[in-house]
Amino acid sequence: MKNSEKRIGNDLYIPSFMCGIVGYIGKKQALPVLLQGLRDLEYRGYDSAGIAVLDAGKLDCIREVGKVDMLAKKIGSKDFPGNVGIGHTRWATHGGVTESNAHPQIVDGKLALVHNGIIENYRELKSRLKDQNFESETDTEILAKWISEHYQGDLTEAVREALLEVRGTYGILVMHVDNPRELVAARLGSPLCIGTSLNLYVEHFVASDITALIPHTRQVRFLNDGEIATIIQGDSEIKITNSKNEMVDRAVTEINWNVETAQKGGFEHFMLKEIFDQPTVFEDAIRGRFNVEEGTAHLGGLNMTEAEMREMHRIIIIGEGTARYAGLAAKYAFERLANIPTEVDFSSEFRYRDPIIDPHTLVFAISQSGETADTIMAIREARRKGAKVASIVNVVGSSIARETKSGTYIHAGPELAVASTKAYTNMVAVLLLYALQFGRLKHTTVSTGQRMLNQLLEIPTKMNQVLEQSNAIKKIATEFAQYENILFLGRGVNYPVALEGALKLKECSYIHCEGFAGGELKHGPLALVSKDVPIVALMTKNALYEKMVSNVQEARARGSKILAIATVGDETVKEVADNVIYVPKTMELLEPLLNTIPLQLLAYHISVSLGRDVDRPRNLAKSVTVE
Ligand code: G6P
Repeated sequence: MKNSEKRIGNDLYIPSFMCGIVGYIGKKQALPVLLQGLRDLEYRGYDSAGIAVLDAGKLDCIREVGKVDMLAKKIGSKDFPGNVGIGHTRWATHGGVTESNAHPQIVDGKLALVHNGIIENYRELKSRLKDQNFESETDTEILAKWISEHYQGDLTEAVREALLEVRGTYGILVMHVDNPRELVAARLGSPLCIGTSLNLYVEHFVASDITALIPHTRQVRFLNDGEIATIIQGDSEIKITNSKNEMVDRAVTEINWNVETAQKGGFEHFMLKEIFDQPTVFEDAIRGRFNVEEGTAHLGGLNMTEAEMREMHRIIIIGEGTARYAGLAAKYAFERLANIPTEVDFSSEFRYRDPIIDPHTLVFAISQSGETADTIMAIREARRKGAKVASIVNVVGSSIARETKSGTYIHAGPELAVASTKAYTNMVAVLLLYALQFGRLKHTTVSTGQRMLNQLLEIPTKMNQVLEQSNAIKKIATEFAQYENILFLGRGVNYPVALEGALKLKECSYIHCEGFAGGELKHGPLALVSKDVPIVALMTKNALYEKMVSNVQEARARGSKILAIATVGDETVKEVADNVIYVPKTMELLEPLLNTIPLQLLAYHISVSLGRDVDRPRNLAKSVTVE
């Protein structure tokens, strides 16, 4: 796609969500259409899949852990002749990767539901259900039962009434044996689109991602947040109502993407798509995990009482690559808010350095994939020495999540590009929430906590303001692509940002890049500085701004070109910088969440202009499962 920025705010832009939904209602046998749809969504990665088909007053449902092929194998020669059905590929969020946690979730053999998203108030809904027998550990089963308890013959009404009290995000598709010619879809924060084909007869295809619609039709209607669609077999019209229960006349959009473009949400590469996913998935990382009134976070993943948390007097964060840099970015928050000495180490070094650990040491193991061998071994070492270990992981049910038992998922959704982007911001987000939670158990005041949470809530909007500059960054990138060496400088919270910026650019472009602490420049790296070595300087307006200006001047005096990442409204920075990318102001501890994004875009655009394979850089792997 040439102008990816145009997609922002356009309903064709579909950020990554954890799971995939497909549905069919027409005259054909639903089963092969559903299986094909699930295969079309396989590129996103997932852990289990399932389908349910309505047939002659009964529901046939089958689910399996693993690939769609495993599901197809399990179905074998079983006959599902029905022509109304729903299917799902799951990327686990609540509950482990098991058959009973997979979707569809069925209630009393009558109602089937597939769900994408997270139900925030599932505990409350669960306590209010009449039926307290649960077969899964999922929020989805609770939602299915909740809708079922509202059902009195009209499925759309049951969905509407039930959703009035549901908080969180969802894209859902529901069917009921007593409404055998009907599919009901609803959306809040999690995409759903409906494709219609009138070729031989009326057929509707529903999906969370247009990739699964393209083989069947190019005529698509997108649901907006708060809308509910009722799709009736044989009826070319679809009844869509908004949150006020008013009828909506949704125009059909003609899709001209090919499958590959669709998989990338219309972006040219997964990396760019994932960079643009950040405002959305950031909300998933923090949703339901804090209380503004109390000015605190309430992550439950540590399985510790508040008294036990107060006894932790040392934190060690371990990880590799980007995961470690996320830890470094959060170290400042643990020390400032919670007053807990925090060190950050490479998992691979930690394991062999005989680390000093006691029962009051909390080790956070950070990993996107949850499969990094160095980190797994470091976790075992930490535990052996008596530390309490918790993981912060993206992939649910991964080895590290299982190994640690305690921890928190970052909910970034599938990350397919090798260079990590959205997982980084979500790791930082979760760590910041932990720092606040520890801080509030010690000396952080309620007003500081509230200020931080209010600032966190503004981050997605501010991220979008940075993303809007992608085209401008692309222009700067063309110039920077000519250099053979690029240095990144930052101080305080921006030092880890400089390291992450340099890593991103070196791994995708193969240009030699290094990140340094600003104050360190004159202690060695200055020898590298010349007109052929430009500097990317993190110069946002925080306590160390003046110091950074001096450091940058040292380099500029030696002919270096300066690209500054600065705070919106800072005009004086132009006196020391040749180019400036502006980012919105936020609380200093939160700056890594915004300041890293222009560096991700810079790395992306430079690498593309050099013709690199940005999604799969040479010699690198997404998850490194060997030491
Ligand atoms: C590899 C990847 C990096 C990643 C690191 C840690 O080196 O190429 O992009 O940051 O592993 O991966 P993890 O899955 O543990 O976050």
